[in-house]
Amino acid sequence: MKHILVLHGPNLNLLGQREPEKYGTTTLEEVNQLMADFAQKKGYELVVFQSNTEGALVDQIQEARKKFDAIVINAAAYTHTSVAIRDAILSVRVPTVEVHLSNIYQRESFRHHSYLADVSIGQVSGFGVQSYLLGLQGAITYLESKKSIDPSEGSSEV
Ligand code: DQA
Repeated sequence: MKHILVLHGPNLNLLGQREPEKYGTTTLEEVNQLMADFAQKKGYELVVFQSNTEGALVDQIQEARKKFDAIVINAAAYTHTSVAIRDAILSVRVPTVEVHLSNIYQRESFRHHSYLADVSIGQVSGFGVQSYLLGLQGAITYLESKKSIDPSEGSSEV
């Protein structure tokens, strides 16, 4: 069984209540359930973590090395500020997909830059809750294509 780590950044614990016109009415718990169901159908196990603290997210990324085959992250506001999260992704070399509920390029200009985009295998932005499922599918597609090239590549299976 392959393992994917899902990370949610600051304020996403308030999903469903927080600016629903931008982020929708689905709660974080519901998002996590949708993702877990999707992953299970594809034969993957998910571990989910949310924090409002940058260092806690860095710790989780560091610990992902050798334990997870991929990371799906919505770093929320840290997307636009965090060199530390960027460096953590670069340090562990676990394939990472960046997701956003809203289309960050249609919003304020300070949201147009992502510190994570060029260290991620891909980015999904603007599809609401579906962004998470598309991001998860992207990570799975990436892992499956690597497996077909080299079955020993990047697996947490021992
Ligand atoms: C977000 C977009 C970020 O700019 C913002 O700070 C968030 C949520 C999104 O999912 O659309 O908190 O990452």
